[in-house]
Amino acid sequence: MKINILDEAVYSKIAAGEIIDKPASIVRELVDNSIDAHATKIDIRLKNGGINQITITDDGDGMSKDDLELSTLKHTTSKIKTIDDIYTIKSMGFRGEALYSIKTVSIVTITTSNSSSGTTPGYTLSFVDTIQKTEETACNKGTKIDIKDLFYNLPARKKFLKSSTTELNSIKSTLIEKIFSNLHIAFTVYNDDKLVFRTNGNGNFHEAFFSVYKNENPFEISPFTYQYNDSLSITLYHSEKEIFFNTKKYQVVFVNKRPINCPFFYSAASNGYSDYISPGRNPLIYLFIDIDPQLLDVNIHPAKREVKFYDQQIIYNAIMNAVKTAFSNSVKSGITGTTSNDYSSFFIKENHTVDYGSKNSFIPKQHNSIEGDLLDLYHSHKSSIISERSNIPFAHEMSVSDFKIIGTLFSTYITVEKDNKVYFIDQHAVEESHIFKKKKELFEKNPGIDNLLIPFILELDTTNDFINKKIVLLNEVGFSIEENEGNTYTIRSLPSILNAMNISIVKQILKEWLEESEISDRTIIDGILIKASCREAVKKGDSLSPLEIRNLVEIFFNEEITNCPHGRPVFFEISKDNFEKNFQRKK
Ligand SMILES: Nc1ncnc2c1ncn2[C@@H]1O[C@H](COP(=O)(O)OP(=O)(O)OP(=O)(O)O)[C@@H](O)[C@H]1O
Ligand SMILES: [Mg+2]
Repeated sequence: MKINILDEAVYSKIAAGEIIDKPASIVRELVDNSIDAHATKIDIRLKNGGINQITITDDGDGMSKDDLELSTLKHTTSKIKTIDDIYTIKSMGFRGEALYSIKTVSIVTITTSNSSSGTTPGYTLSFVDTIQKTEETACNKGTKIDIKDLFYNLPARKKFLKSSTTELNSIKSTLIEKIFSNLHIAFTVYNDDKLVFRTNGNGNFHEAFFSVYKNENPFEISPFTYQYNDSLSITLYHSEKEIFFNTKKYQVVFVNKRPINCPFFYSAASNGYSDYISPGRNPLIYLFIDIDPQLLDVNIHPAKREVKFYDQQIIYNAIMNAVKTAFSNSVKSGITGTTSNDYSSFFIKENHTVDYGSKNSFIPKQHNSIEGDLLDLYHSHKSSIISERSNIPFAHEMSVSDFKIIGTLFSTYITVEKDNKVYFIDQHAVEESHIFKKKKELFEKNPGIDNLLIPFILELDTTNDFINKKIVLLNEVGFSIEENEGNTYTIRSLPSILNAMNISIVKQILKEWLEESEISDRTIIDGILIKASCREAVKKGDSLSPLEIRNLVEIFFNEEITNCPHGRPVFFEISKDNFEKNFQRKK
């Protein structure tokens, strides 16, 4: 194959695509520029989730006419002069290619003024058929950048844009990171003239957090600062131990205000809190590393999402120690209601008092609607199993006539002799049926509804004619589901019994049920309870203790279980007569 030399129009689009792949990347770059320009207020206006238009206005330093005209050219930056500067600056930008990249794939207009006295006019730079022109304009100090027609010249890229809701969610996530790492900047965000969120820039993390994740009953978030040495300090904000999540999504690390992908962060953080938080629970941790730029390299990823630390071990230890001290301090200060040497008994007690009947016994009550995306408050899956298991009555409390346990076949089928019969009982099926029955009873006894602390978004891959009917059915049984654009739905409340489960399982089952192009006889609640029971029950092949086997056999006979919730038989039996026929002792 012959080698071609690509012309500039082609490779600049390829390069731009690395930096700008969706509206959220434009927002990220423009907000970074406003931060670098020392803005104290940043106003973001979006149309159609940023797909149609993005306008960002700041009250920062602004630009002179000359700088404005240079700003959208390739490799133009005011932030560095030599490569060594990268190792001393803390600005968000330095590559001098963001505005150029944005200009390459959209229609850009910039209005700016660097004078607060009004003696020097402002200027507007715009493009007509890619020809740049500058005009004098009256405007306040600061910069306004307007982006339209994203990917107008890259139709293939444009096709990859998702629904406006998805793009808006992605912008929200980007902005939330910027907001949390710049608490002294007031952000205002509108989409289609509707307020998305607003922060007051007063430096308070807790206020900023609950301005974006709106909640009438905010939970405690404690700040902590840890000075490792002159070149390294860590500020972190964390939830108390009663608040935990089923994902690590709310464990985020920033380096010099940049959110980064840091592969060892989770391990360092969880080593720090493991003495204070039950395994499997994820507290909220926003951790900000402030480090001498000479000790890291930020120039290894176009979107600056990765950094390289000069000494990773130091950072690991610093994170671990900061988290450890923060959690130990909050425990000592009594915020969690226990003393520093009493963790284990507290956790055991907590697990055993979990009660399916009372709503959310292991999370604070009354979490109400919160805008934004996707936090799933963690309702400990493990705790549910423990409590479910502790609900299995012990053998001595039961009263069935005698049976003799022979053993377990193929690590699955419990073999029992009783009343002149041999029973082969499927250990998984019997426990699954039992758990399902209990969950169902609880649901019927307590059809309570929980408002979610933070609603979750469900995005369907396909649609069908039954969706609207299904949504009505779901809303009748305690869900509160709102339809958004582009096959996405916001779930704001759900039956308490489901809220007590691992939300990601509920989400997955809900999605499958909505995507089925039929309405089955089985209700969605049953479907979810069955799947949850299936996951909690012992599995085929699990080796059980004699006591566990005995309990399952008691349950089997007491509850007269015949079929599992999927309809399969739980057991089969052979009578003594039939058994003996095989030995030709009987005819
Ligand atoms: N909102 C703004 N206020 C003031 N100056 C700005 C603003 N946005 C851009 N500039 C100027 O335009 C220059 C080019 O911006 P651009 O984002 O392309 O590059 P950068 O920020 O220097 O580096 P990077 O490509 O890493 O973002 C900046 O260095 C800055 O001088
Ligand atoms: Mg920039």
